[in-house]
Amino acid sequence: MLELDQLIHEARTRAAASESLAALDEVRVHYLGKKGVLTEQLKVLGSLPAMDRPAAGQRVNRAKQAITELLDARRHTLEEQALAEQLAADAVDVTLPGRGQEPGGMHPVTRILERVQALFTTLGFRVEVGPEIEDEFHNFDALNFKPAHPARAEMDTFYLKDRPLLLRTHTSPVQIRALLKYGAPLRVIAPGRTFRHDYDVTHTPMFHQVEGLLVDKGVSMAHLRGTLTDFLQRFFEKDDLKLRFRPSYFPFVEPGAEVDISCIFCDGSGCRVCKHAGWLEVLGCGLVHPNVLETCHVDTERYSGWAFGVGIERLGMLRYGINDIRMNYENDLRFLRQFR
Ligand code: DAH
Repeated sequence: MLELDQLIHEARTRAAASESLAALDEVRVHYLGKKGVLTEQLKVLGSLPAMDRPAAGQRVNRAKQAITELLDARRHTLEEQALAEQLAADAVDVTLPGRGQEPGGMHPVTRILERVQALFTTLGFRVEVGPEIEDEFHNFDALNFKPAHPARAEMDTFYLKDRPLLLRTHTSPVQIRALLKYGAPLRVIAPGRTFRHDYDVTHTPMFHQVEGLLVDKGVSMAHLRGTLTDFLQRFFEKDDLKLRFRPSYFPFVEPGAEVDISCIFCDGSGCRVCKHAGWLEVLGCGLVHPNVLETCHVDTERYSGWAFGVGIERLGMLRYGINDIRMNYENDLRFLRQFR
């Protein structure tokens, strides 16, 4: 009896000292295993006198029961400890500040393009895009550039190896494509990339233009002036913006004009941006030359038209106060982040 109580006490101490499930299992094997201490005790029962056996057997079984229970209790404790440690290791500190997400933004050129497009589509203009790889017919010939016209060189054209293919130097060839496709009457706006061999503060070899074309009955310079005034005043959000039409030459219009706006930085009083002229040049325009309409099979007895072409980067530089056009294409995040 004493010996069994001693055994239970010893087992409890060893179980309590076991710091892992594996160590605890060794304790179990030591007492309850096939060759365990208690198993051996049961074996010696046979050597006792018959009348003592039942009582002795019960005592051994109770001891076995007691050890089983204390081992189970310890295992339970160890398992709970392991689970608690695992949970602590996996814990997320919800009070930590987040990593933050930087929202993307539209490129300034895209913003201006979409703005110009929106202002014209609300006036009933359809958006038309032509190919960036053009041919001499659409880029020059059909636009009334004579074969030896210096403008062909002035535009610093990128010719492809197999001439007459070239990278279009302006969006004006879309006038031709749209007229041949839809005929008159017509209102189109043609946004897109254009290419010229040029590079400085105000020129990049790739830049964007939007072309406008309206062909209908009784179209005049007054319509053109009215439409452009409305467009530019809305674009710059300035009701008192003034326009100045200066006679100019483009082969595909007659008369042709360059349009200046009153300087948006000094309201015309003179500043560094307008070089103290009070005016800023923004676009080219004119009444479509009859030769262009005829090439596109438009009846010039019934129809006339106007057209304009505007540089998107130029508009962006004025609207956002960008002083070097090349910043548009350097992908410097300090620049781009300002347009979110
Ligand atoms: N295509 C001309 C250029 O790139 C701009 C231009 C001038 C377009 C007059 C026009 C226009 O439609 O009528 O410089």
